[in-house]
Amino acid sequence: MLNGKRVLLVIGGGIAAYKILELIRRLRERSIEVRVVMTQAAQQFITPLSVASLSGNKVHLDLFSLTDETEMGHIELSRSADLIVVAPATADLLAKMAHGLAQDLASTLLLATDKKILVAPAMNIRMWQHPATQRNIAQLQKDGVGFVGPNEGSMACGEFGPGRMSEPHEILSAIQTLLVGDTRLASPAVSSSQLLAGVHILVTSGPTHEPIDPVRYIANRSSGRQGHAIAAAAARAGARVTLISGPVEIPDPIGVQTLHVETAQEMFSQVQASLPADIFIGAAAVADWRVAEAGLQKMKKDGTPPAPLVLTENPDILASISKLPSNRPQLVVGFAAETDHVIAHAQAKLARKACDLILANDVSASEGVMGGPDNTVHLISQNKVESWPKMSKEQVAERLISHLAHLIGRAS
Ligand code: C5P
Repeated sequence: MLNGKRVLLVIGGGIAAYKILELIRRLRERSIEVRVVMTQAAQQFITPLSVASLSGNKVHLDLFSLTDETEMGHIELSRSADLIVVAPATADLLAKMAHGLAQDLASTLLLATDKKILVAPAMNIRMWQHPATQRNIAQLQKDGVGFVGPNEGSMACGEFGPGRMSEPHEILSAIQTLLVGDTRLASPAVSSSQLLAGVHILVTSGPTHEPIDPVRYIANRSSGRQGHAIAAAAARAGARVTLISGPVEIPDPIGVQTLHVETAQEMFSQVQASLPADIFIGAAAVADWRVAEAGLQKMKKDGTPPAPLVLTENPDILASISKLPSNRPQLVVGFAAETDHVIAHAQAKLARKACDLILANDVSASEGVMGGPDNTVHLISQNKVESWPKMSKEQVAERLISHLAHLIGRAS
């Protein structure tokens, strides 16, 4: 899905620029084409030669370069991109963007574009906290610019606090969300605000495979897209995320510790081994039953009628975690895949499984939810039903994570 997508990368002048070489490498590994513009200040930190070598493309440095204007001017540079990424986005670049200044190639093309822009700010903590910078950020968010980071931590200037540029894998994850995800995504949605820093979130995702014999199994149509999107959104919000994934075709989310399992029993053991967690989100479509005695050898046709499959119940992971006598996560969230009486069944499930929230979705074949890109969910708690409009699974994930951050007192 990323193959052949084009990113125009604007490198600003900050010490974090050295991390951009790694970002370029990772983008190229995913067959994303990278064109680069460097500000003058950026060239004090990394050389155009390294950038050109890694990106495989000429690096653009000057607004008034005649050759560039005939070959590829600033308008064309931004026109041919699917996404513009500014990293490191210095206080100066953010200010120019917020005020519409066009003083050099970078600021000019940022003004001349109608493409989605993602910025990864990096600056000293006092510059970040300065009211002028905060005003510019608020303006840019209003203008629809996406933010990833900054992170909190120690900085090259010796201080500690917010202002560190996001790591390459975090920027990559935000880029992937914007390139493959829904461009209707609101800008704060990709903002890794560090809302959930220090919070451990445990997520299950995907189907389980329950063996019948060594070559056959019982499965379901879950793709893992919703659970993986939730894990990715939680990681972007700064949480430490452990994802226990059943067999899926999609890649591990970036910045998430992913453990792969096949069966419900394996999933249950991994979940238990990954506790304690502050939040548990059971998005996996765990098989309710497994074959009581899976064949050790492949079952053969021998002319007699096939033996009936005898099933036995799997552990209910969600209910077990909800009912833990000690170490119970502060919030336990489940999913309800229903084909009729969606809300009523989900409310009953919330009570039966003793969880705090259920996201109920209609998985009738006509809805295309199982395996599809979109979801229509109802968020059900003990005393409330909130019906969300149809949106992409990435958007459901972002909205759920903000909701959870709010519930644990991390957001206003
Ligand atoms: O009972 P049902 O499968 O409809 O419940 C759905 C919710 O329960 C999902 O959140 C799913 O991840 C979880 N579940 C589980 N373990 C099971 C069955 C379901 O965690 N064995």
